[in-house]
Order: sequence, then C-alpha cells, then structure tokens
Amino acid sequence: MNLKQVLDQQISQVLSDISGEPSCKALVNQSKSVQFGDYQANGVMALAKRLKLNPKQLAEQVNNKLDLSDFAERIEVAGPGFINISISDKFLTQQLNLLNRNQLVRKSENTQTVIIDYSSPNLAKEMHVGHLRGTIIGDAIARTFEWMGHHLIRQNHFGDWGTQFGMLITYMLEQEGDVKSELSNLETFYRAAKTRFDNDPDFASRSRENVVKLQSGDEQCLQLWKSFIDISIQHCHELYRKLNITLTEKDVVPESFYNNKLAGVIETLDKNGLLTDSDGARCVFLDEFKNKEGDVLPTIVQKSDGGYLYATTDLAGIEHRCRTLKADRILYVVDARQGLHFQQVFSVAKLAGLADEHCSLEHLSYGTMMGKDGKPFKTRSGDTIKLIDLIEEGIQRAYTLVESKNPNLSDTEKQQIANVVGVSAIKYADLSKNRNSDYIFDWDSMLSFEGNTAPYLLYAYARIRSIFRRAQLDSDAKYQIDIKSPEEKVLALKLLQFTEVVEALLIDCYPNQLCLYLYELAGNFMNFYEACPVLKSEGELLQSRLGLCQLTALTLKQGLSLLGIETLDKM
Ligand code: ARG
Repeated sequence: MNLKQVLDQQISQVLSDISGEPSCKALVNQSKSVQFGDYQANGVMALAKRLKLNPKQLAEQVNNKLDLSDFAERIEVAGPGFINISISDKFLTQQLNLLNRNQLVRKSENTQTVIIDYSSPNLAKEMHVGHLRGTIIGDAIARTFEWMGHHLIRQNHFGDWGTQFGMLITYMLEQEGDVKSELSNLETFYRAAKTRFDNDPDFASRSRENVVKLQSGDEQCLQLWKSFIDISIQHCHELYRKLNITLTEKDVVPESFYNNKLAGVIETLDKNGLLTDSDGARCVFLDEFKNKEGDVLPTIVQKSDGGYLYATTDLAGIEHRCRTLKADRILYVVDARQGLHFQQVFSVAKLAGLADEHCSLEHLSYGTMMGKDGKPFKTRSGDTIKLIDLIEEGIQRAYTLVESKNPNLSDTEKQQIANVVGVSAIKYADLSKNRNSDYIFDWDSMLSFEGNTAPYLLYAYARIRSIFRRAQLDSDAKYQIDIKSPEEKVLALKLLQFTEVVEALLIDCYPNQLCLYLYELAGNFMNFYEACPVLKSEGELLQSRLGLCQLTALTLKQGLSLLGIETLDKM
C-alpha cells in the first residue's frame, strides 16, 4: 500500500465507525494525493449530506477519532468540511530509511499473466518510423510489468504473410546470382519488386499465382519466402539492439504461426451462429458497429476465394493467448487507426468464446509522429524515413552536441555518450508525450538540455554521480536520512511517490506519467541541491543529504531503465 492508500483506509474506517455504514471506501476514494505533503481527505462532506449532519461538525468528529500520530504533523478541519493532514518529517524520514535501495518500490502482490503485442511490423519492407512509437512505448510498458513481478510475455506479431510476399517471391525468382546480397537493402528490393508489379501485368499475375502456391505449401515458394523473412527479421533485431529494445527471437510469433488455426476459428464462429454470407465472403455483423449512415459494419473473416484476413489471424491470436498462454490481460500497442479493428475483434472473440470471460483485452493506441510541418513525418522528398537512418542521425547530432559541451573528452568517450544520448533523446521524446496524441518530431527540442528531455534527466543523474566521485564517497553505502528543511521534504515526498507512479503505469499504461514524475523529481533535486549544501555540510547532516542524493540517483536510474533508457556516469 502507498501512503495515500494507508490514509484513505484509516479515514474510511473512521467514517464507517461514525456512520455505521459498512464501507465508506468509495467516498474516500477521491481524496487528493500526498503530492505536496498535504493530504486532503474527501468523503466527509458526502457523508454529512447523506446523514443530514453539519459537515463541519462531522469533520471535527472524524478528526477527534483519527489517530494519525504516526504520519501527521498537523491535522486541520478547514472550509466547509475538509480535513487537511500534513505528513510529518518524522514519518518521511522513517519511510526513506526503510526503502530498500535495491528495490525502491513495493512489487505487485496480485501478479498476473500479461501478454503484450508490440512493434509487430510487416516484414515485406524495412522497418520505418511508423513502427517507432509502438516499439518504444510497448517496450517501456513491458519492462515495467516485468520489473513489478508480473508474468509478462512479449509477442512480436510480425506481418509475414499475405499478398505482398507473392510479389517478392516472383521478383526473387527473376534474380540471377546471389539473392541474399540483393536483400541487404530490403527497401530497394521491395521498391524494385513493386515497380515490376505495377508495370508488368504478366509479373503481377505470376505474383498472384505465387501467393496461392505459397499458401498451399509449395516447397520452392516456401523456401524463398523463408529466406526473405529470415533476413527481414534479422534487420528488425539489429534495430532493436541499437534502440535498446528488449524484443528477441524468442518473442517472434508472426502471423504465419496462426495459419493452421484459422479454419478452426471460422468453425467456432459458425457454431456460435455468428457468420453471415455477404457476396460470398464470410462476415460477422454486430449491431454495436455502425458507420455514419447507420449501416452495420462487417468484420470480414474469410474472403470469397477462401483466403483469411487480418481479423481472422487476430482472433486465432486471442484464442492462443487465452488458452495456451493463459493470459489475464492482453495488451495491443498499435496505431490508433486500427481502433475499430480491435474493437470488432475483441467483441467477436468474447461472443464466440475465443477469449476467456475474465481476460481483459486492451488496445493501447498511439497517435502519429508528425513532421514540423504538421504532416506525417517524411523525408524531404516525401518518402517514409527508414528507422535506421533516423537513429544514426540522432547519434550524429548528439555527437556534435557532446563535442561542443565537452571538447576535452576522448573520442571514444564522446562516441559512447553520443550513442546513449542520441537514442535516449528519440525514445524519451516519444515516451514523454501522451501516447494518444499525435506529436511533432523535432530534433532541437528533444536534444535540448532544458525541459522534460532525455539530456536534462541524464545530466541530472550524471551530476549526482559526480558528487560522489569528486568527494570519493561510496555511492552504495547506507546513509541515514533525517528530513529537516522544506526542500528536503519536497524531495522526500517525491521519492516516496515512485511506487504510486509505477503502479499507475500498470493500470492504464501511460509512460508519459512516469516521464513527468522523473522530470519533477530531477527538478525537486535541483532545488534541494541549490538550497541545501551537500559536500559543505558535516556529520549527520552530510550523511542525510548524501542519502537523499543517493536515493534520487537510484530512482532516476531505475525510472529511466523502465523506460528503456540507459544512464551515464559522466556527460
Ligand atoms: N503488422 C501490423 C501493422 O504493421 C500490426 C500488427 C499489430 N498486432 C496485431 N495483433 N494485429 O500494421
């Protein structure tokens, strides 16, 4: 339990005692958090209304019954019936000294099996910036669940099946010599194949034949397809490594994995009376999905030629994740434009019993990355930007920055710092925005040392590390903390909120809240550091302030690591 929960519980207990109502939890639930060291208990006024009592008197009565001597310094009845509680320095001191430096948060008690489907690019082309957001956001969420002790399963639902592969196979068949070396640039290869497809009807019809052959298990087609897929997957993993993304080969569960399960899905839908024929295609019509004109929209699960669709695969995916992987929650970190698709698939899965009743299916959607011109982010010539080029540019820009700030570092050091700063800046710029909104990709603001940016936080961390380094102090020792001044108190409260913030992330999966927390923590630290000399103080005061420095550094490091961002000891 966090501090707010402890206080909520105590107050709701007192309210129950006074009113005789069995549970006053809901009333108290809306209480303000302990953000500024003050907790405002709600519920009194609502209860007074219900019991037709004077709220002020009820508040006094509650106040007399409350025993918060363990936490509070001042309890006041204010206004028409608020109870304001000031957390005591003594309590903060005690809590900080109790914090386990290796853990910092209370791990989740009721652990769940959580499946997260993220990144999941189509393999026909090279990964581009459109996949960046889902990859970065999904990875932060995955890391957080895992760290809090949940059974977290990553699923990279690569798009490795479908008509585009017919075209690619046909083009591969035309190549003489070493196809592997041709494939070293997937993007060029894809474009060349596409040009052939668009301009040569004969090529196009052979491509269509090859899709059918591939799907019916033709050896040669399968082999070519496989070699293409392997190379494409390798490209993705190279990018993941560069971006410090935790997805590995063992998380690959692509669309083709479900091929032999699709007929079964159709059968289940049929058995449940959910299928309707529409021009030969098999569809599910649910009243809850209508277009603007009020017509019910279909979820198409099988085309008239027998082929299956994106939705069919996702239905098979849900069944597999519920039945075989035993999911309690399935999270889909996918572009907002697929919102309707997921709503439809979730509804159909529940109705058909493909999803367990208790399993929560959640589409964690995200908006589009925009250029400075307010249009989806593209190169100057209007092409989509390759992810690898973007990362390299970030590192290059970070290098220039490091060189101007710190010209005396060795070249290796500069390069190391640039690698971390460049990648972190890109990731953090994305994570720090509300994932639902579109956001503008802007190098200058993401690489700035001011504001809610990666360089600002990395610098704050490195600065604390340098305090210990300069004074040759042990940064792992246990320092006894004793909260005294207001700046220390603000910082202490912030440090103790870490659990609350991480727990909130697991509920609705907004990493920007964690970013904001870390940014505020760094700000609180800077204020503390200005107001409270650390190395110039002595004895217990020195110990206590070093303790606060140490906990801040650990919290920053852990928080950033949940976001998939490495820290640097020197910058
Ligand atoms: N491959 C899809 C795309 O690039 C995303 C897949 C998302 N996951 C899923 N289970 N549908 O748009």
